[in-house]
Amino acid sequence: MTEERLRSSLSHNSTYHVRGSKVQQLHAVADALNQTSDLDTLEGIDWDNFGFGLRPTDFMFVMKGDLEGNWQKGQLRPFGNLEVSPSAGVLNYGQGVFEGMKAYRTADDRILIFRPEENAMRMINGAERMSMPAPDVDTFVDAVKKTVLANKRWVPPTGKGSLYIRPLLIGTGPILGLAPAPEYTFLIYVSPVGTYFKGGLSPIDLKVETYFHRAAPGGTGGVKTISNYAPVLKTQLMAKGNGYSDVLYLDAIENKYVEEVSSCNIFMVKGKVISTPELAGTILPGITRKSIIQLARSRGYEVNERPVSVDELLAADEVFCTGTAVVVNPVGSITHGTNRVQYNNGAVGRVSQELYEALTTLQMGVSKDEFDWVVELV
Ligand SMILES: Cc1ncc(COP(=O)(O)O)c(C=O)c1O
Repeated sequence: MTEERLRSSLSHNSTYHVRGSKVQQLHAVADALNQTSDLDTLEGIDWDNFGFGLRPTDFMFVMKGDLEGNWQKGQLRPFGNLEVSPSAGVLNYGQGVFEGMKAYRTADDRILIFRPEENAMRMINGAERMSMPAPDVDTFVDAVKKTVLANKRWVPPTGKGSLYIRPLLIGTGPILGLAPAPEYTFLIYVSPVGTYFKGGLSPIDLKVETYFHRAAPGGTGGVKTISNYAPVLKTQLMAKGNGYSDVLYLDAIENKYVEEVSSCNIFMVKGKVISTPELAGTILPGITRKSIIQLARSRGYEVNERPVSVDELLAADEVFCTGTAVVVNPVGSITHGTNRVQYNNGAVGRVSQELYEALTTLQMGVSKDEFDWVVELV
């Protein structure tokens, strides 16, 4: 098995320049493949104290293609730096889209991923908006599976976190005049992660941003392009500096309707009804958002997708955020100007807790997957 993988990896490596010479690189592939896929080989790792940071693993997947969408055969190679032209489209004009997914290890040592075809389709839509070609759904999903399996030993023990998967599509061909790059690179790297916000499933404190906006109608807020994320750093850093966990954005026209948080969608509960901002092109169509809507409806909740004003949110019984990184995270307080509202006296709300458990037991293979969302890697 190891030899077979090594040979196939070597036969596809002729165009790579990862760590200087090809010989050095082939040694790196051989070294990595000689490690077993066993968690025992990572004995020194403190799985209980993982945050959400990058920890390089053994392999990444790389595939190159042209503007017309003709992709070469992709391959696994040792995790390492890329070499790109200073005039690469992504460096100069921000041509890039990415995805975020997670793989979980079950108690009986199976590896599961969640709705990967949804991420593939979102990347295709985002690439179209950014004038880029994208891999088709099967190629995307197959590459995700291969990358996770090659890094299997880095999937944390069950209950201790997950392997975060980062598919990335960037314009790597050189371009000077403003135009789509002539060449693209699709790559996937992974990193074991723990909880996103410090403190696990504990309520977070959000600050409503009333001056800066994340997205405007007709812009790119609805796609997962890299260029949406640098602009939120400033507001996020300011909020964190003032003791908040993250920023809640409002619509760019009336400054009145809630959009989303820097990297997650938002929901409110009032009485027996759950509401979340509708998808109108300015917020990301989160896959966790979509799954929570379906899960909540299947449990008898009424869920509305509609404009949600900040005043309504402040008067809600319960508020929570959803996203691959944050999963389902309760909101403990929201501050809008001088008005600070606390929910459930800062404790985890009943609906947030119920939906968190419903989603995570499904993703971790503990509950029955009635929706056919979970994919086992073999
Ligand atoms: C801006 C933004 N909103 C929402 C989400 C949640 O999306 P998903 O549930 O697909 O992870 C993310 C994270 O991917 C995000 O970056």
